[in-house]
Amino acid sequence: MALKTLLLVLVTALAGTMAADFSGNGQLRTLGLLPDPVDLGCLTNEGKWTTDEAKCGTFVAFLFDEVNFNLSTPTGACGMPWWGDGNTYLFKCGMAEGQIFAKYLGDKPGQSPIPGRDILRYVTAYAWSTSGPSPPAPSDEPLEIHMWRGSSKDKGRPIALAWKSLA
Ligand SMILES: *[C@@H]1O[C@H](CO)[C@@H](O)[C@H](O)[C@H]1NC(C)=O
Repeated sequence: MALKTLLLVLVTALAGTMAADFSGNGQLRTLGLLPDPVDLGCLTNEGKWTTDEAKCGTFVAFLFDEVNFNLSTPTGACGMPWWGDGNTYLFKCGMAEGQIFAKYLGDKPGQSPIPGRDILRYVTAYAWSTSGPSPPAPSDEPLEIHMWRGSSKDKGRPIALAWKSLA
């Protein structure tokens, strides 16, 4: 086999086995936004933030095209219900009906604020925060997250949501 053909076969095989972000089974990892995208835990099956790895949820993502997908966990669908208390939206799983999410692509300049990492967005929002200690301690109850608005209800460090594929 010519080297060029062999390389082509290898590249094609790799592309075929590489899971796309926000597709199949995975975890939602919480990454700190600024000053560096350090991994600060994950979301539970309810869509709450925890730093106890044993509580990380299993998400199923269905990717409709390059960027749009929906999400569910064993508790139900994930979506963005209104958070009356804060004049913004919660991120929540365990509902009868969810919403369509999208991704900012990490390999496209000007999209994801974390170069090289695809992150979840809802319309144009990609930053989330809690109204409690952020990040929570591993022994804390998992914390609800809401869309970051830069208000006094947003505590601690804003986070982005990235994908970790599970086989
Ligand atoms: C996601 O979309 C697929 C394809 O339309 C559908 O079968 C599935 O039920 C949807 N999941 C959620 C959580 O809405």
